[in-house]
Amino acid sequence: MSDIETLKQESRIFNPPESFVKNAAISGMEQYKAMCAAAESDYEGFWAQLARENVQWHKPFTKTLNESEAPFYKWFEDGQLNVSYNCLDRNLQNGNAGKTAIIFESDDGKVTKVTYQELHDKVCQFANGLKSLGIKKGDRVVIYMPMSVEGVAAMQACARIGATHSVVFGGFSAKSLQERIIDAGAVAVITADEQVRGGKHLPLKAIVDEAIGMGGCDTLRNVVVYKRTGGNINFVSGRDLWLHDVIANQAATCEPEWVEAEHPLFILYTSGSTGKPKGVQHSSGGYLLWAMLTMKWTFDIKPTDVFWCTADIGWVTGHTYIAYGPLAVGATQIVFEGVPTFPNAGRFWDMIQKHKTTIFYTAPTAIRSLIKAAEADPAIHPNKYDLSSLRLLGSVGEPINPEAWMWYYKNVGRENCPIADTFWQTETGGHMITPLPGATPMVPGSCTLPLPGIMTAVVDETGHDLPWGQGGILVVKRPWPAMIRTIWGDADRFRKSYFPEELGGKTYLAGDGAVRNEKTGYFTITGRIDDVLNVSGHRMGTMEIESALVANPIVAEAAVVGKPDETTGESICAFVVLKRARPTGDEAKQIAKELRDWVAKEIGPIAKPKEIRFGDNLPKTRSGKIMRRLLRVIAKGEQITQDVSTLENPAILEQLKLAQ
Ligand code: WTA
Repeated sequence: MSDIETLKQESRIFNPPESFVKNAAISGMEQYKAMCAAAESDYEGFWAQLARENVQWHKPFTKTLNESEAPFYKWFEDGQLNVSYNCLDRNLQNGNAGKTAIIFESDDGKVTKVTYQELHDKVCQFANGLKSLGIKKGDRVVIYMPMSVEGVAAMQACARIGATHSVVFGGFSAKSLQERIIDAGAVAVITADEQVRGGKHLPLKAIVDEAIGMGGCDTLRNVVVYKRTGGNINFVSGRDLWLHDVIANQAATCEPEWVEAEHPLFILYTSGSTGKPKGVQHSSGGYLLWAMLTMKWTFDIKPTDVFWCTADIGWVTGHTYIAYGPLAVGATQIVFEGVPTFPNAGRFWDMIQKHKTTIFYTAPTAIRSLIKAAEADPAIHPNKYDLSSLRLLGSVGEPINPEAWMWYYKNVGRENCPIADTFWQTETGGHMITPLPGATPMVPGSCTLPLPGIMTAVVDETGHDLPWGQGGILVVKRPWPAMIRTIWGDADRFRKSYFPEELGGKTYLAGDGAVRNEKTGYFTITGRIDDVLNVSGHRMGTMEIESALVANPIVAEAAVVGKPDETTGESICAFVVLKRARPTGDEAKQIAKELRDWVAKEIGPIAKPKEIRFGDNLPKTRSGKIMRRLLRVIAKGEQITQDVSTLENPAILEQLKLAQ
């Protein structure tokens, strides 16, 4: 991976291709600068106009921004709308009824196309079915679904009746699911019998049963099960229902529940530096607006596009750029059930060729692993496929290193497609810093400049602006419509995590470090400044993994750090002290495997440490604080240059260096 100094010196510049600029919604830097200037000169007016032009309001708003309870900002608060209505009914009115909304490709390659009319009808039936179970506005519904039309429909159906959904990624364990059901106070879980990925069947319903069996899910009344495979599952009578039974005989129309703009559309749990995952709460109006604008600005979406975001609906990217954004702008999009490496690592390229994909949006980890695969097997190299339909590429979730950027640009985009390196977060609702494909000259490894109306800055610990060229803390100085509204059930934590007093209490703290290029002012993200890791674009808190490890009866202490990884960006390295003697050799290998499986059960396979090192102790200061900084150096295999004389037990460093 590239270090910051190398990134800062990156000087290659790639201008947007002429052919793209000609037809782009935002073409050229002049237009971009004019939009930024409009936002600067009349911030509220800028957003109000966009909100009127883009969102279909049931009741128009008269107030744009209410800052009286900052940082609990309110946008368009007296307006009323329904997000599902904006995504579906509007398309029926716009002549898109017969247009393909979703091209679904299953793990085994079966393709199903769903028109806007069909999706509308499906969502309405689903919504009526949920209503028949007594689910109503304000209730919370957990969705634990595979990538499917039904998964998207479940989210839209909740939005239609004003229920707040909380999607839990299908790779999370029963325990993680249970914690989320309890924290959200969910009345129902929507799941599938099984999910199919890479030819393997994975039980979802059984995990839901296990989660509920752990107890505490007192608010839960029903589990609705989509039959994906017909695999064997247990049914609890009275509680569990088949989705096909719930929607049978339901009308294909459903009057939307008109909600106020601030009504919580969803809660999505994400990792923080401390404690358990936070339920990031998003609004309806402001969120929808930004989902639409970023589809138009960043992705330059056109009626003829075939858009493909490869994220899972369990992450924010799958919310904004699968479940809501593409539908709200009437696009045709691909929803893919499987994995990039099945039946072989040419799957993405094959699907781009087959569906004539025009916009492709994926994560750097996927790109890096496909580079390796293509090098190992020329038969699945992207140059073996017809990718000429592509006109725009996107990257999301983690820094893209210049090598991967160049490969993506040359081999996938054929030097003819701009790359939108989109920096954003679960909390921001949509893109924040990204090149505009028809305007911004691109520099590999830099997410370039903020979108119009997004007031990002690099500051020091006291909130003072730093000069370009100097690394600091990334902040957003003004509220924006799609921002996080609160942490579900924990307003205090919201304020402390994102609007700390040291920064004045009104400046949004992103949790990332950044530096601006001395000449261009372009932003480069330098990584998290808290104890959050980014493994394959998945956010993981080191504390969460440590807590999972010490919950194992044989573990006395654990410290988890990130280690740069060529493919996954970062990997998880755990230093563990057992309650028994330090294991070595085969015994160490065996226990490490057991602990990895343990973490998979506690959190999910994505949280498994790649490396576990056993020690008699951990490096601590005399006051007992674990020196994670030193552990990071050891994990990287680098020499320790810091002064370690203040350590209680400096000798332990040698042992951990050698430990396997
Ligand atoms: C990181 C994913 C560099 C960053 C949408 C952020 C990035 C965290 C980029 C949010 C990017 C995301 N360049 N880093 N283009 N995009 N990140 O909440 O550390 O899953 O804070 O949202 O991913 O991860 P989250």
